[in-house]
Amino acid sequence: MNSPVMQGLPLNTPSYVKNAKVIAWVADMVALCKPAAIHWCDGSKEEYDRLCQQLVDAGTFKKLNPAKRPNSFLACSDPSDVARVEDRTFICSEKKEDAGPTNNWMAPAEMRATLQPLFDGCMAGRTMYVVPFSMGPLGSPIAHIGIELSDSAYVAVNQRLMTRMGKAVFDVLGTDGEFVPCLHTVGAPLAAGQKDTTSWPCNPKTKYIVHYPETREIWSYGSGYGGNALLGKKCLALRIASTMGRDQGWLAEHMLILGVTSPEGKKYHVAAAFPSACGKTNFSMLVPPAGFNGWKVTTIGDDIAWVKPQADGSLRAINPEAGYFGVAPGTNTLTNPNCMHSLDKDVIFTNVALTDDGDVWWEGMEKDGHNPDHLIDWQGKDWTPAIARETGAKAAHPNARFTVAATNNPALDSEWDNPAGVKIDAFIFGGRRSTTVPLVTEARNWVEGVYMAATMGSETTAAAFGAQGVVRRDPFAMLPFMGYNMSDYFQHWLNLGAKLQASGAKVPPIYCVNWFRKGADGKFVWPGYGENMRVLKWMIDRIEGTAKGVDTGFGVAPAYSEINWNGLEFSAEQFATVTSLDKAAWSEEFKLHDELFTMLSYHLPQELVATKDKLRAALTA
Ligand code: GTP
Ligand code: SPV
Ligand code: MN
Repeated sequence: MNSPVMQGLPLNTPSYVKNAKVIAWVADMVALCKPAAIHWCDGSKEEYDRLCQQLVDAGTFKKLNPAKRPNSFLACSDPSDVARVEDRTFICSEKKEDAGPTNNWMAPAEMRATLQPLFDGCMAGRTMYVVPFSMGPLGSPIAHIGIELSDSAYVAVNQRLMTRMGKAVFDVLGTDGEFVPCLHTVGAPLAAGQKDTTSWPCNPKTKYIVHYPETREIWSYGSGYGGNALLGKKCLALRIASTMGRDQGWLAEHMLILGVTSPEGKKYHVAAAFPSACGKTNFSMLVPPAGFNGWKVTTIGDDIAWVKPQADGSLRAINPEAGYFGVAPGTNTLTNPNCMHSLDKDVIFTNVALTDDGDVWWEGMEKDGHNPDHLIDWQGKDWTPAIARETGAKAAHPNARFTVAATNNPALDSEWDNPAGVKIDAFIFGGRRSTTVPLVTEARNWVEGVYMAATMGSETTAAAFGAQGVVRRDPFAMLPFMGYNMSDYFQHWLNLGAKLQASGAKVPPIYCVNWFRKGADGKFVWPGYGENMRVLKWMIDRIEGTAKGVDTGFGVAPAYSEINWNGLEFSAEQFATVTSLDKAAWSEEFKLHDELFTMLSYHLPQELVATKDKLRAALTA
């Protein structure tokens, strides 16, 4: 019975940690998880390099060829651990109604009783990393601090790229500052003397991603991947932050934030919500096409926005993150050159393929002229073009990702780090729909915009474990990330707009977009990527009052002649294919809205029901 804790595993608390709550919590979690060692992360480059080398030695990381990809690594996960696990994600509010019908729920006491035995000894034989991080600029009044305890060195190094991580967080916390405790384990304890038999320890059978919104705690068990494990991102900055926003009058959103500057030097800021793997990173780094000389798009954030109403009636937004955890497949210098440049060095790749000369490859890179004859695929198997043709095997997992600091992005906005955020001039919501939903439309008022966002559908992607390509409702692109009742969240958006307008402020216009309509040949009709600038420019013309638009019954859409077609051949017929509103398709669509509203009937704002009736009458009459 000589467990390390009974012997009193020394906490080795660094002298700069002065917060009694932190120290007490770490001591409690050490007693519970029983790690073999504790490592307090200081966030230094030396520490990062050391941990990366340790991951190389353990076989988790492969160091890439420094001549091709300096200071970069490849990790390949267990095939059972490749994406977020929505069916294992829980919102454990005191009352079930407060989690709402879109979330898995368990009473907090019951969940704690479930997790207790799982976490007891869960870090045996491993090191517990104490990872202090700030979501938002360090010390800023809008930032929130988290401390993640994890038995994964992969998590520790990723968090250094994704967040402001390190020692300075403890200075901000002082003796009595607040933090969100985030406990994470891969759920693979090692017996005395036992070594890992895998380079990606996780628990293939049992996973729990658990949030206690009232006490603001996060407990994650069994996965080492992405949003399951990097707890500052979806767990803190969306699920927990959304409940903070509800209580304090602001919004935590699954949105990119971009700046767009005209040739005359006028700058606008846009926040856009698209579901997972539906184009946020791409849109946030957009390179304007030929025909848009002098226009510039800059990135503030690519995944998450915290949006706060100001005393002057404006809305300002910050990106709480400091890096990108982005989808690799499909990314190349044609679709996203800024992203490709961001990946030149200092990158952690997860689940892409390895080339014979020690570089990385994924589907989409062939468009840049990279046509390897042989690769090691993400599962460590040989891959050749012939094997791919015969078996359809993908070299990279469709949800393969890169982790990179925002400062690597050549299009990074000069304001990206500003604690005051940027003023939002427009909101955009967009799903992945091969039919029905038009290229772009502007809601005629705030309530209609909230309706469009609330009823948004999208085809599911590899970003979440489960079936792909199935249309499901994904309100506000927040379905997997809502920390409370979805209908209450709709009401929160309505209240915010009403309050701003009552104070005499003009609320930002709300647009609904769809880059993904397909033609009879099954191919995307809209060229997308940089060409999305044409739609963005039309929005700016609407803001400036120079585009009249056409009232379609589903908001205001551009006339063909209102889009700048300079440098692109796109006929009026093609335009009609991506903008037409089909009566039969919309009749079916509204049945899906009915289903959604039936599910969400508890606390569903009646304004939205009235909006549905009005839109249905206009579109299906
Ligand atoms: P998360 O990080 O999961 O939240 O995703 P995201 O919304 O940032 O998605 P991302 O920008 O990484 O895009 C994911 C996939 O969508 C990639 O395979 C892209 O190639 C594809 N994509 C992005 N923009 C467009 C577009 O305008 N048109 C088309 N057809 N595909 C696009
Ligand atoms: C998403 O799925 O929307 C992501 C990736 O941004 S993850 O952080 O894994 O959730
Ligand atoms: Mn995301």
